[in-house]
Amino acid sequence: MLEVFFIKDVPFTFEEMMMDFKNNVLGLQLPTDPRWVDIAQMSIEDILVDHAYCEQKAASSCISLIVQYPERAKLIEMLVPVVSEEWSHFERVIEQLRKRGYELGKMRKDEYVIALNGILKKGGTREQQLVEKLLMNALIEARSCERFKILSQNIKDEELQKFYYELMVSEAGHYRNFISLAKEYMPEDYVQQRWKEFLFAEANILSELNVRGDRMH
Ligand SMILES: [Fe+2]
Ligand SMILES: [Fe+2]
Repeated sequence: MLEVFFIKDVPFTFEEMMMDFKNNVLGLQLPTDPRWVDIAQMSIEDILVDHAYCEQKAASSCISLIVQYPERAKLIEMLVPVVSEEWSHFERVIEQLRKRGYELGKMRKDEYVIALNGILKKGGTREQQLVEKLLMNALIEARSCERFKILSQNIKDEELQKFYYELMVSEAGHYRNFISLAKEYMPEDYVQQRWKEFLFAEANILSELNVRGDRMH
């Protein structure tokens, strides 16, 4: 098990996050096991298939939020374009599979997201429930960003290096959208406290999952 990587201040704003991002930290409390990228590289078909479904689930998750909260104008304004972006990422991953002679294949069990769902608090107000969902999306964006950064810097395939760099930038923008939407619906102190709890819980979950080269998370 890797040592959990505690930092004094959890980055919260996009600017703080990008500063940490340069320092290879993000807001995440546990860096990805360095063995992951080596084994991921050996199973690139599995990684691309799993990644395609991550993009599909990201688009679906935004669609669900739009359908569940149609009265929230800001949410609609910010998430409708994210659906299109996530869907275009899905198309681009399919194109990478096609170029390599691989098929989409079936969706794999997402143990990471299943475990993350346990972080969500039940009950509370409609706004608190919305913030739980927004922070869950922000968390998955942050971890995806970290994984894409690792792939862009370490993968031998030059086309995939560029591809993952572009996606890393795009997912960082989505992270910003989810955090700023959470602050629209609950006070900043509440969101910041809850975000820290999400980050620490995620680190514990990740430390207990096996390192798998056939999964993006
Ligand atoms: Fe994406
Ligand atoms: Fe995203």
